[in-house]
Amino acid sequence: MCKMLNAPAADRNKDPILSVLKSRVKSDRHGNALEISSGTGQHVVHFANALPNITWQPSEVDAHSLSSIETYRQHYRLPNVKPAIYLDASQSWENWAGIQPESCDLIVNINMMHISPLACTKGLFNGVGKILKPQGLLLTYGPYAVNGTISPQSNVDFDHSLRSRNPEWGLRDIAFLTSLGQHNGLRLEEIVEMPANNKCLLFRKDSVV
Ligand SMILES: C[S@@+](CC[C@H](N)C(=O)[O-])C[C@H]1O[C@@H](n2cnc3c(N)ncnc32)[C@H](O)[C@@H]1O
Repeated sequence: MCKMLNAPAADRNKDPILSVLKSRVKSDRHGNALEISSGTGQHVVHFANALPNITWQPSEVDAHSLSSIETYRQHYRLPNVKPAIYLDASQSWENWAGIQPESCDLIVNINMMHISPLACTKGLFNGVGKILKPQGLLLTYGPYAVNGTISPQSNVDFDHSLRSRNPEWGLRDIAFLTSLGQHNGLRLEEIVEMPANNKCLLFRKDSVV
């Protein structure tokens, strides 16, 4: 049976992340947003309810999460949330359920990069560089290292625990992500400090003109 999963962290961070989105997303015209690694579905329904001019496409790689997102979608009956698609960020964007190049105004990725292999981070930036419209925005949220340093101690401990669970996991460094962004036409525009020692990173896709 389908179940609405609940992630306490998503309940805590959904409003702070929404504030960042609201101050940057225009409210007077329609746009398309893709969420990569939607998890339970809590974020997508929260954001879609608050930003009705945006059509939201949730996505996941995990079957239980896909089922949970669908249950949230049916429960809240929001007209601007599409059925979730299977999307593996480590795969090439051509395998991202037919999402077209330069079709998204906004892409959101919350708490995925540190808890998945580096191939997911690389695939994320490569794919986002292709499917974001020029001037489109990528928002990522999570804990990050800064120029080789992780702080405070709770994030150092978190990084160690992630790496002991899977050596391919761990906090990503903003300097590395900046460089990865540059290779994919994405410029790190802003770093927003968030509660509980997290950050939002805002990348803007370059325009060719
Ligand atoms: C810590 S959870 C965060 C979920 C949700 N974004 C949130 O903040 O509640 C990490 C998510 O990354 C997803 N994930 C792991 N590997 C992935 C991949 N290769 N492609 C897409 N998502 C992936 C997992 O299925 C999981 O839902």
